[in-house]
Amino acid sequence: RADVARRADELVRLVPDYPLPGVLFRDITPLLADADAFAGVVGTLAAGTTGPVDLVAGMEARGFLLAAPVAAALGSGVVPVRKAGKLPAPTASQSYALEYGEATIEIHPATVPAGARVLVVDDVLATGGTAAATVELLRGCGAEVVGLAFLVEIAGLGGRDLLPGLAIDTVLTVD
Ligand code: PRP
Ligand code: MG
Repeated sequence: RADVARRADELVRLVPDYPLPGVLFRDITPLLADADAFAGVVGTLAAGTTGPVDLVAGMEARGFLLAAPVAAALGSGVVPVRKAGKLPAPTASQSYALEYGEATIEIHPATVPAGARVLVVDDVLATGGTAAATVELLRGCGAEVVGLAFLVEIAGLGGRDLLPGLAIDTVLTVD
């Protein structure tokens, strides 16, 4: 696990002033392209949970890249948490403030049964807005959020404060 974190730290590229001045963007594409590092991250995210997981929820877009392989590793289904206007069937929506800008995310509640045990997976925990909105959507379906797993936690932005009482697992923690 320490090896996975070290390798992830090496492969997440830091891009200053993207997409806006003052924002330090963490580009995970070099990590995704490295077969060993990718497998290590997926395995670590999947191993962080205890107990059965019925569904893994991943947030569009970068969360999809991690949630789907984590779900496959756990033998779980996947719930895509999409940006507004992408899902064709009846949706539940939640708006939230992002590190830069504002957004609305949606799910298909019909795919999340009441009582389902759901793991939330995304690439980055920053302000926590995306994750907290996702938890709201899942709980609105009557699901139980059994934990959240992130590749990178930017601890200085305080995202955990928006996720009280929830188990949060991160491969890599930065300031
Ligand atoms: C990024 C990142 C997380 C979120 C974290 O997604 O992938 O999902 O921000 O920020 P927060 O904790 O402050 O909410 P973003 O919506 O920027 O774009 P993406 O479609 O590339 O994933
Ligand atoms: Mg995202």
